[in-house]
Amino acid sequence: MTSRRLVLSQSAALLGAASTGLLLPEVAQAQPGKVRVGLMLPYTGTFAQLGVAIENGFRMAIDEQGGKLGGREIEYFKVDDESDPSKGVENANKLVQRDKVDVLVGTVHSGVQMGIQKVARDTGVLSLIPNAGVHAATRSLCAPNVFRTSFTNSQPTRALGKAMVDKGHKKAVWITWKYAAGDEAFEGFKESYTAAGGTIIKELGLPFPQVEFQALLTEIASLKPDAVACFFAGGGAAKFIRDYAAAGLKGKIPLYGSGFLTEGVLDAAGAAAEGIITTMHYSDSLDTPRNKAFRLAYAKTFRMQPDVYAMQGYDTGLLLAQGAAAVKGDLSSKVALYKALESATIDSPRGKWTMSKAHNPVQDIYLRVVENKENKVLGVAAKALADSGAGCKMS
Ligand code: PHB
Repeated sequence: MTSRRLVLSQSAALLGAASTGLLLPEVAQAQPGKVRVGLMLPYTGTFAQLGVAIENGFRMAIDEQGGKLGGREIEYFKVDDESDPSKGVENANKLVQRDKVDVLVGTVHSGVQMGIQKVARDTGVLSLIPNAGVHAATRSLCAPNVFRTSFTNSQPTRALGKAMVDKGHKKAVWITWKYAAGDEAFEGFKESYTAAGGTIIKELGLPFPQVEFQALLTEIASLKPDAVACFFAGGGAAKFIRDYAAAGLKGKIPLYGSGFLTEGVLDAAGAAAEGIITTMHYSDSLDTPRNKAFRLAYAKTFRMQPDVYAMQGYDTGLLLAQGAAAVKGDLSSKVALYKALESATIDSPRGKWTMSKAHNPVQDIYLRVVENKENKVLGVAAKALADSGAGCKMS
C-alpha cells in the first residue's frame, strides 16, 4: 500500500514538473536498502581453503572502502557449493531467486561455474567469477553481465611449455584431474610445449577429486620423461606433491605445473614442494609496494599468508567497488555499470590489469619457483597475455 501510494505521488509530481516545463535530469539514484551480495563458493571438500581465501580477500577489499558499495551498506548471503557441478544451477538459484542478490560472486570449480553461467544468462544477474577458469564463460557463452577477475584455464599453462624446453626438458608427461579445468589447462600446455619443440609422450588423468595417485606415479617412473607437468589444486595438490616425493620421483624427474599446484599448500606440502617451477598470474614475492601492502594487511587481518585465491577475491572486491562507485550504488543502472566494469583498470597486487572484450583479465604471467615455503618470482613468462575469447558475441 505504502509503496503504491509513493509511486502514485511520485508520478503526480513528475506530471506536475512536465506540465510546468521543468525537465528533471536523469541521474543515478542510490537505491534504498543494502546491496545484497551472494557468495557461492566451496567451503567443504578439496577446494574448501580456496573458497575461504576468496571470501577473505573480497571482504578485505570492501572493508578498505569503508565496508560499503557506492555508499550503500552490504548484506552477505552465502552458499557452500561443495565443488559439486550437479548442484550448480540449484545453488545459484538459491542466491538469485530466493535471496534476490544484486550480485553473485562465485566460484572456484569450472563445472559448478557452468551452472552459475546458465543462471546468470537466464536471469541477467551480475556475475563476478573470482576463480573458475572454464573457457566457455568468456568465450562461446560470454555475456554482458558476466565478468571474470581470475584467468582462463589455458592462460597460465600457455606460458609453461617454453619455460620447460628452455631448461632442456624435451619429453614430458602431463597429468591432471579429468574435468574442464585440467583438460583446458592441457590445451595451453600442449600449444606452448609443442611450439617450443617439446614432445608430450603421455597424458595421464584421474577423476576429480580423487587423490589415489600411486599407480599413475609408478607409470611415470617407468616412462622416464625429462619432466612432468600437471594441473592440481587445493588439498589434492598438496597430496600430489607429497606423493610425488614419497614415490622417489623428486630430484629425478623435475615437476612443473600450472601455478595452482603450489598455491595455499606450501605448509601442508613442506619440503616436498621446494624447487617446483610453475607459471601463474601472481607470485608471493612480487616486489611492489602494492603487493607488499596487500600481503601485510591480509596477514594482519586473517593471521595467515595470502595466496592467488585471496588476491583474486580481493580484486573481485576492487572491481565491484569501482563499478558501484561509478553508478553511485545504483546497481540497476546496468548500461553504466557494465561500462564501468569493462573499462576498469584494477590496481592489483598481481600488477595492473584490464578487462578483455570478452570480460577476462589481460595480465602478465610469472615464472616462479618454490623457495623457503614461498612462490618466488623468477621473471615474466608472458607479458599482457589475453585469452582468445573465441566465439564470444556479447548480446
Ligand atoms: C577450476 O575448476 O576452474 C579451477 C579450480 C581450482 C583452481 C583453478 C581452476 O585452482
